[in-house]
Amino acid sequence: MIKKLQNGFEYVEISNKAAIAKIALQGAHLFHYERSSEIPLLWLSDASKFELGTAIRGGVPICWPSFGNNNPKLPQHGFARTVMWQLGEIQELDEDTTQLRFSLEDSKESRELWDYKFLVELTIRVGKTLEMELKTTNCDNVPFTITQALHTYFNVSAIEDVTIEGLEGKKYLDALTLQHHTQVDEIRFSQEVDRVYQGVEDTIILKDANREIELKNSGSKSVVVWNPWIDKCARMSGMKPDAYKEFVCIESANAYEDKREILPNKSHTIHLSV
Ligand code: BG6
Repeated sequence: MIKKLQNGFEYVEISNKAAIAKIALQGAHLFHYERSSEIPLLWLSDASKFELGTAIRGGVPICWPSFGNNNPKLPQHGFARTVMWQLGEIQELDEDTTQLRFSLEDSKESRELWDYKFLVELTIRVGKTLEMELKTTNCDNVPFTITQALHTYFNVSAIEDVTIEGLEGKKYLDALTLQHHTQVDEIRFSQEVDRVYQGVEDTIILKDANREIELKNSGSKSVVVWNPWIDKCARMSGMKPDAYKEFVCIESANAYEDKREILPNKSHTIHLSV
C-alpha cells in the first residue's frame, strides 16, 4: 500500500467500498479523500510540491505544536507537517472503513526547536465519513502548552457560492486587523477572510453549489476560517493565482484563547468528523 513518487516521496493509498484516500508519510498528511461517486472532498493544489521539507498545499496539514506564528522559535504552523511520521497499523474495520494510525515522537531535531518529550498519534478513518483524531501526550516531567489545527482545505464549486453556517453569534478574532467581532449571519466570501472563531461547540455546515458538508469537532473550541482571496493567493507558495476560487479552509483548532496546557503523563485529543 505504500507508494513512492519518482523523487522518493512516500504515501499510503487506501481504497475501500466507500472511499479512496492518500496520506503522505511526511506530516501524516491526508491529501486526497474521495467518497465513491462524489467529487473529492478535499482540495489539493495542482501547483503543490511533493518534496521533503515542504508542506503539501491542500488536504489536511497538521499544524502542531503551534498554530500560526505565535511561537517565534517554531516555523509557521509548527514542525509536524514537514517531518516524517511513523506509519502504524492499517486495519479494515469493515468493507466500508479503513483505519490508519500514525505517530510522531520527539527527536534531537524537535528538541532543538521545542524542548519537550512528546508522543503525537493521528488516527484516520477512511469511510463513508472521514474521521481524524489527533492525540498529544506529554511524556516530559514538566507541563507544556500547545496550539494546533487540522487545517482542512475543502474543495468547493466556486468561492462565491460558499456559505458557512453554525458560527452565527460566535466571537472571533479577525487575524487581518487583530480586532474582535461577533459573527451575525452565515459566512460568505467576497474578500480575504482569516478569522479565529472562539467557543465553538456546534456542528458547522459548509454549503456550495454541489453539496452540503457537516463538520463535527470535539476537543477543540476554536475554528479558523480562511480564504486568501486574490492578492494573498498570488503571493502564496504552492498555489496558482486563481486557486482561491476553489477552496475554503475550515480548521479544527486549539488556537489563541483555546490553547491547551497538557500536564506530564496526560493527553489531549481533538477529533474531526466530516
Ligand atoms: C491559515 C492562517 O491557518 O493558514 C493564514 O490563518 C495562513 O493566515 C494559512 O496564510 C496558510 O498558511 P501556510 O503556512 O500553509 O502558508
